[in-house]
Amino acid sequence: MTDQELVEQAFTMLERAYVPYSHFPVGAALEGEDGKIFTGCNVENAAYGSCICAERTALVKAVSEGCQSFRRLAVVGNSTDYCWPCGSCRQMLYEFAPELEVLVAKKDHSFVKYRLRELLPQGFGPTSLG
Ligand code: THU
Repeated sequence: MTDQELVEQAFTMLERAYVPYSHFPVGAALEGEDGKIFTGCNVENAAYGSCICAERTALVKAVSEGCQSFRRLAVVGNSTDYCWPCGSCRQMLYEFAPELEVLVAKKDHSFVKYRLRELLPQGFGPTSLG
């Protein structure tokens, strides 16, 4: 699958987003080491602190299905700016895949690509516990 195709899979999740509070839908597509794709969207809640981001939805789906190694992630929004992963999502993903390729898109479907390590330099991970 090309990078653009992974981005398009993330875009299909925008319509599933549950966003009655922010009205800011986010979609994610996370590719496991074996090529399996786990998609996710943000799911908000009247108790705002209980909202979950699209990337973490995809990650917990994957881990709960037995997948713990990842190659690429696409994150997309309906905004004119790139839909950057929040700090909590960067941290959660770093646990499993510091070398993850992260494709960050904006609403015209163009995207930029980074390593998770670049988005979370000197991250705290499993080896940090020494
Ligand atoms: N959001 C995500 O889904 N992923 C991110 O990395 C950034 C923020 C969601 C959370 C909330 O539902 C909405 O975007 C506005 O913050």
